[in-house]
Amino acid sequence: MTLRRFLLPIALLCAGTSLSAQTAPADPLAPTGRWTAYAAGSAQLPPMGWNSWNAFFTEIDEEKLMGSARRILDSGLAEKGYRYINIDDGWALKRRTSDDRLILRADKFPSALTGRNKGTPSFRPLTDRLHAMGFKAGIYSDLGRNTCSQAYSDGPTQLPEGTVAEREVGLYGHTDKDIRLFFSDWGFDAIKVDGCGIRAFADDAPRVRSGQFRALVPIIDQHSVTRSNVPAVKALFADINQSLARYNPDGDYMLSLCIWGSANVRSWGKDVGNISRTSDDISADWGRMLTNFDSAARRAFYAHPGSWNDPDMLFIGKGDFDADHLTEARSHFALWAMLNAPLLIGADLRSTPQPLIDIFGNADLIALNQDSAGNQAVMAFDADGFQILVKTLANGDKAVALFNRGLAPIDAVLTADHLKFRADRPVALANLWTGAKSDFTKEMKLRVAPRETVVFRAKGERVLADGLYLSEQPGMVNPAADGVVQPEPDPTIYRSIPNWRGTRGIGERPMYAGWGGAMADFTPYNQPLTIAGKTFTSGVGILANSRLEVRNAGFARFSAQVGVDDSALDGDQPVRFFLYGDGKPLASTPPLRRGQPAQAIAADVKGVKLLELVARADGVKGNAVPVSWGDAALLR
Ligand code: GLA
Repeated sequence: MTLRRFLLPIALLCAGTSLSAQTAPADPLAPTGRWTAYAAGSAQLPPMGWNSWNAFFTEIDEEKLMGSARRILDSGLAEKGYRYINIDDGWALKRRTSDDRLILRADKFPSALTGRNKGTPSFRPLTDRLHAMGFKAGIYSDLGRNTCSQAYSDGPTQLPEGTVAEREVGLYGHTDKDIRLFFSDWGFDAIKVDGCGIRAFADDAPRVRSGQFRALVPIIDQHSVTRSNVPAVKALFADINQSLARYNPDGDYMLSLCIWGSANVRSWGKDVGNISRTSDDISADWGRMLTNFDSAARRAFYAHPGSWNDPDMLFIGKGDFDADHLTEARSHFALWAMLNAPLLIGADLRSTPQPLIDIFGNADLIALNQDSAGNQAVMAFDADGFQILVKTLANGDKAVALFNRGLAPIDAVLTADHLKFRADRPVALANLWTGAKSDFTKEMKLRVAPRETVVFRAKGERVLADGLYLSEQPGMVNPAADGVVQPEPDPTIYRSIPNWRGTRGIGERPMYAGWGGAMADFTPYNQPLTIAGKTFTSGVGILANSRLEVRNAGFARFSAQVGVDDSALDGDQPVRFFLYGDGKPLASTPPLRRGQPAQAIAADVKGVKLLELVARADGVKGNAVPVSWGDAALLR
């Protein structure tokens, strides 16, 4: 791409309404006294519901949608929290060129022409019906002029029709008008915004060259952050945010970002939307589920009430997750629950067998996902074949998942240390799949079957009796600046064979930027937190030149042991640590270098609502300096 073609979209966007990119504070490490992750919209808990895509792809219609909605109601899943009924790609017929209004496929949604809507079809009768059943309704669009099925689908099935202009059903150039139509006129409560329109329509794309579509200079390149125009992508979302606020005066909406971990969105999606996809599409096979799980699994600090990681919709009901594969289906569900992922069912519920409905309906697992503390699980044990995830719940219990990724059984040992519980006191366990109760002291052996995920709710005596480590409350910690200046692909994400391409092409090379982001209990590169030879089993690992925002839920004191981590490549770089409370300085350290012992930093934080933890280093080039906030905790 030439420089001119790359810069043009930035110029166009800067001329538009988006201000956020320009009003960013000059010094990202300066305390703001404000929580800056997305708090608008309505996603205090991870959204639960149903989406049409995995079951039907573009071939969605009213009968299929209402059939699934009715099953959610009749089976009791609605009572358990499944609320959103979301229409994905395939609903749009065209954009009427006389007034730019979007026309939906009334042949597929016959209620659209009932009531007052004889001439122009409307989704209002459908959303009215869903609302009357107690549901919320979601719709789909794209950041560009065209949607993903227009970019990639081969068949003619339910793609928009008409002239090139009529088939431009995406938001580009129409954001405010379309959002108004979706939310004010049609009564939707949620929108998923895809990104193929800003990625797949370069002027040399075959579909553009053949005259089917207008070119739009790509600003996302899924395989390359450096070829993506991150500010331009963010600016498009800023426009959407403004329109959503305008047409939802009650603030009751949900914005789902769908740019698949590209453009480094794994770091900033939390700032602009309620849920944000961390990877490319899931499919109904085990390998792909692993990829999508991994794309979110070590990113607990990037998920909070109001802004969740989204490893994509559930594929339970098909392929490796159908009723003949209940172990795999249970694992998929348990892992999504532990990650605080949205629980969006992707099955044709009209024909889903009861054992799978029972998985969706496991109230104990749903309770983990919907726990009010909003803490995504943290990886306590991490290896390619086996992982132990631990999630701190609002009442102090821990949820623990033991996940066997492979095809051989594993003789696992769960320790009290994994749970940050005392090893000299009993730990009581309830198995959330079987209901069985047990207890252990210090450690417990158990066999985990191939592809099984054993999940317990655990009660024990906490090692830190009078407080919470920050890594136990990631939902309260926001890496406002994570110090990553050169985004690099995360090498810990499983690289599966995408089922839509098979072994054509070059396979899956590392592509999801985010390596070096803030980590719970480990360094940004997934190593133990170690300062001058002393290892901390709890704490925050982050790069220098970072600022963490920490919500204080009534604690009196903050304390940590800080320093440059022994893993830093540059041993000479000095780093200073600062602590702020509601924007005011509370404590700081002198400059510290690698090899200097950890230094205590502590302050009285009674009445403080927001803490900020800053690690500042002048003149750093690249991502070279991991720093550790060892034992960082809020104490009563
Ligand atoms: C993209 C998204 C999917 C789905 C399709 C629709 O691939 O990632 O979740 O919305 O587009 O075409």
